[in-house]
Amino acid sequence: MKLNWSDVTPKSSWLNRRSFLAAGAALAASPALGLTGKPSSFSTDAEPNSLKDITNYNNFYEFGTGKEDPARYASALTTDPWSVEIDGMVDRPGSYGLEDIAPENDLEERIYRLRCVEAWSMIIPWIGVPLSSILGKVGVQPSAKYVSFETLFRPEEMRGQKRPILDWPYREALRLDEAMNPLTILATGLYSEPLPNQNGAPLRLVVPWKYGFKSIKSIVRITLTDKQPFATWNALQPSEYGFYANVNPEVDHPRWSQATERKIGAGLFGGRQETQMFNGYGEQVASLYAGMDLTKNY
Ligand code: MTE
Repeated sequence: MKLNWSDVTPKSSWLNRRSFLAAGAALAASPALGLTGKPSSFSTDAEPNSLKDITNYNNFYEFGTGKEDPARYASALTTDPWSVEIDGMVDRPGSYGLEDIAPENDLEERIYRLRCVEAWSMIIPWIGVPLSSILGKVGVQPSAKYVSFETLFRPEEMRGQKRPILDWPYREALRLDEAMNPLTILATGLYSEPLPNQNGAPLRLVVPWKYGFKSIKSIVRITLTDKQPFATWNALQPSEYGFYANVNPEVDHPRWSQATERKIGAGLFGGRQETQMFNGYGEQVASLYAGMDLTKNY
């Protein structure tokens, strides 16, 4: 059986957290504080990063390019109400609420490694649902080959969008078989809390065998299509950021090696570890790329 995050978190912080939660629950007089998810056999049993690391060292260019900008500025984003437009090659297109996409009863905990293309990594205890479940509900048509995702564009609340740092809105995409893989989830929480804004509230993609930039945050549109969709980083610099972006220690970024990574939270000298092919998820995903030249399809 796999461990829940509470089993692998150092006891002192767990106890602190419990008293914190107890205080919150007393204040709110509500037993339903926090989010829980069923444990999953896809979770790693490695110890997750602290909530502090996960929420203070982020990439979310909509709030600025500094690692601490999202923590500083993302509270300006209004995440309620929220709806996601699902369109394109589906039988039941429309505007879906979070409760349709990720009903509380279906939530799972997925403790995943996250490997950024910048060569740092973390372990994050996500709460979410397989992307395949919502795709099943909306009915993917046989002609569909790709799924594309879009973040919202709201420069009044997302200060980074006032400048043309990226071609806003941020967009990403997967091949349909990648989207349907059981590892691919839509997350609505982490560490038993609704997703913090800096991590992509209220709904973000998590694709653990790909570089982190594929895991698009704060999604407002999901489109099924038969052509390879636009993807922000790939379009910006195709020689540096591929459409596939599978974690691969043997294919270097043109400006740095991808052979090792710096584990955030490991301390100044605790630092580097070897990067694993497909970020360690080869058993689940290597077959998706059988016969493909991964040095060309990076
Ligand atoms: N999604 C949007 N909309 N904007 C972004 O700038 N950054 C990506 C990805 N999703 C990004 C995004 C990158 S580069 C990484 S590494 C991860 O989010 C970081 O996720 P985290 O901050 O939750 O660790």
